Amino acid sequence: MPIQGSNFDFIRQLIRNRTGVVLSEDKMYLVESRLAFLVRETGTNSLDGLVTHLRQQKSNCLTQLIIEAMMTNETFFFRDVHPFEALKIFVLPELLQKRKLEGRLNIWCGACSSGQEPYSIAILLQENFPQLSSWQVKLIASDISTSMLKKSMAGSYSQHEVNRGLSAGLRQKYFHPSGNQWLIKEEIRRMVEFRQMNLTETFSSMPQIDVIFLRNVLIYFDIEMKRKILAGVRKVLRDDGYLFLGGGETTVNLDDSFIPVQLDKAVCYRLRR
Ligand SMILES: C[S@@+](CC[C@H](N)C(=O)[O-])C[C@H]1O[C@@H](n2cnc3c(N)ncnc32)[C@H](O)[C@@H]1O
Repeated sequence: MPIQGSNFDFIRQLIRNRTGVVLSEDKMYLVESRLAFLVRETGTNSLDGLVTHLRQQKSNCLTQLIIEAMMTNETFFFRDVHPFEALKIFVLPELLQKRKLEGRLNIWCGACSSGQEPYSIAILLQENFPQLSSWQVKLIASDISTSMLKKSMAGSYSQHEVNRGLSAGLRQKYFHPSGNQWLIKEEIRRMVEFRQMNLTETFSSMPQIDVIFLRNVLIYFDIEMKRKILAGVRKVLRDDGYLFLGGGETTVNLDDSFIPVQLDKAVCYRLRR
C-alpha cells in the first residue's frame, strides 16, 4: 500500500517526536507494510487517507496505535546468552556479597518488549540464587508500548516463542501449557513489575538500580538521544552497578562516564569512579 512522500515524512516526524526512534528515508516500505492494517481498521481506504485522518482528528488513540505498529519488538528468551552468563557468574555473586547487609537488589529492563528478557532474568534468579527469597528484590520491566506490556503481563507465549532460547527443562519447570500457548508460572510472573515508560522522558520514578538491561533499543535513536538516555541511566545506576547494552551498542564515544568491562564473553559497562 503506497504512501506519499509528505505523509511518510509526517509519520517519521511523529515517531521521532514521540519516541526518539529515527526512521531513515529508506524505511518507506516499513511504514507501508506496518500501517496497512490500520487503514483497514479505520476504514480510511489508503495510507494517505489514514494520515489525513490523523492530521485532522489529532487522535491520541490512533497516534499510540501508529507508534506501537512502528516499533521493532524482536526479542527472545536469554537473547545472546553471554550477558545472562555474566550476570549469573560475575555480577550477581559480587552484588549479593556487597548488598548482604542491605538485603535489597534492584534490576531494571529498560525496553522489555514482550517480556522474554525480564522473565529470563527472573528465571535466572530463581534457578541460581535461592538466598534471594529473603531479600527485597525489585525487578522492573518497562517499555513504551502498551500492547507489548499487556503481552508481557499475560506471560503467554506461543510454541515458537518458547522454542527461542529456552531449554526444554526450563520450559517444563517454569511454564504450563494453556491451549496452544505456554503460560509462565505465577511464581515467575509476580517477580516482575511492569511499567509503561518512555526512555526519552525523565527516569524520576526509578529507584537507584544495581543492574540495568538496556539492550537493543539505543540503536534506534540518534546520537543526541543516546547521550540523553545514557545521562539518565547514569543518574539511576548505583555507583558500583552494571549496565548491559545490546551487542551492537556501546557507550564508547557517547558518554565517558561509563567504562566497558569484559566479563568472559560479555561486555558490560560500569561508572568511572
Ligand atoms: C528490539 S526490542 C528489544 C527487546 C529486548 N530488550 C531485547 O533485547 O530482546 C526494542 C523495544 O524498545 C521499545 N522502545 C522503542 N523506543 C522506546 C522508547 N522511547 N521508550 C521505551 N521503549 C522504547 C520498543 O517498544 C521495543 O519493545
